[in-house]
Amino acid sequence: MKHVSRIGILTAGGDCPGLNAVIRAVAKEMLSSGLQVVGIEDGMLGLIENRCRPLGYEDVSGILTLGGTILGTSNKANPTHFAIGKDEKGELMFRDVSERCLRTLDHHGIHAVVVIGGDGSMSAAEQLRQAALKHSIDLNFIGVPKTIDNDLYGSELTFGFQTAVDTAADALDKVHTTAASHHRVLVVEVMGRNAGWLALHAGVASGADAILLPEIPFTFKHLNDHVTYRSQHGERFSIVCVAEGARPEGGEQVVARRDPSSPDPIRLGGVGKFVADRIEADTGLEARYVVLGHVQRGGSPVASDRVLATMLGHRAAQIIKSGGRNRTVVVQGGQLRDVELAFCAGKQRLVQPDEPLIAAARAVRTSFGDA
Ligand code: F6P
Repeated sequence: MKHVSRIGILTAGGDCPGLNAVIRAVAKEMLSSGLQVVGIEDGMLGLIENRCRPLGYEDVSGILTLGGTILGTSNKANPTHFAIGKDEKGELMFRDVSERCLRTLDHHGIHAVVVIGGDGSMSAAEQLRQAALKHSIDLNFIGVPKTIDNDLYGSELTFGFQTAVDTAADALDKVHTTAASHHRVLVVEVMGRNAGWLALHAGVASGADAILLPEIPFTFKHLNDHVTYRSQHGERFSIVCVAEGARPEGGEQVVARRDPSSPDPIRLGGVGKFVADRIEADTGLEARYVVLGHVQRGGSPVASDRVLATMLGHRAAQIIKSGGRNRTVVVQGGQLRDVELAFCAGKQRLVQPDEPLIAAARAVRTSFGDA
């Protein structure tokens, strides 16, 4: 193993509050230990396009509370399947550009990279590790899990999630008062493609009357019965919190757009309108919808996310300093641990039907639109 004197940091995939807090924790500790730190711009894209810059103490000072990422990010850059342009028929052409990434790292003398990302970024890091191995290049990737979806396999918590829950719960609280005044059904669409953790936690925190998750297909019969029952029994409004990936039993997710050039070719969106329109048509109750969208990914991290991000960054730095190799830092049983990089790659942690929070929500008469 080569002596590591220079490390790289990148933030990949969709952004979330707390990325800068991790960058700060890793960089400050590394710089204090006499290592050099290189910031890789726009996630894996910076590796592909050789866009890197040195990070000094002043670059990472004052960023703890800042939303977004000072390094930039991209969720369109998978090194093993990268869109390089179109052929004469107008079809996208993809190429494995892993070697370009390895050349960038070699050019900058980087032997260890902290990858702050979700399941897709962990997969990309694992594939780069394997490509390096094939060329007998000694590279070390340390993963730090981020996503507002809180769905990284192997970790019960990702930073960014708690901030997004607060943002969504605050929005749900606000529509609550106007829904009550106007006796309306208010449908709030929150993020959550395959995992409904955000909808579940924000919905429970704000007392939503119905919560629709990607993991529990709903029927309009059950949902409509629930809001109708409420309106006939003195509760003249209802709040429905729906994850963007929720779908009716036997139906499909609502797709806003398809983008074949992206590693996530399907952009979800529109289920809020779909649900509100159908409730209004079926029940005669006035129904409106709100899409929270990227508001949930923005802004300053809440205190608990700042703390978690700092702990995760510290652990990543410790792993590199102690010679640990190709690990991902995770939270298990409320404790920080680290597992093999490949362990979390490309897998998701979904809400299970026996999740205790679902039982607690059902006990206070929250409907999941199911039987
Ligand atoms: O993975 C986080 C997430 O916020 C998902 O919940 C959502 O489907 C996706 O990112 C949206 O990504 P984009 O910013 O590319 O629209």
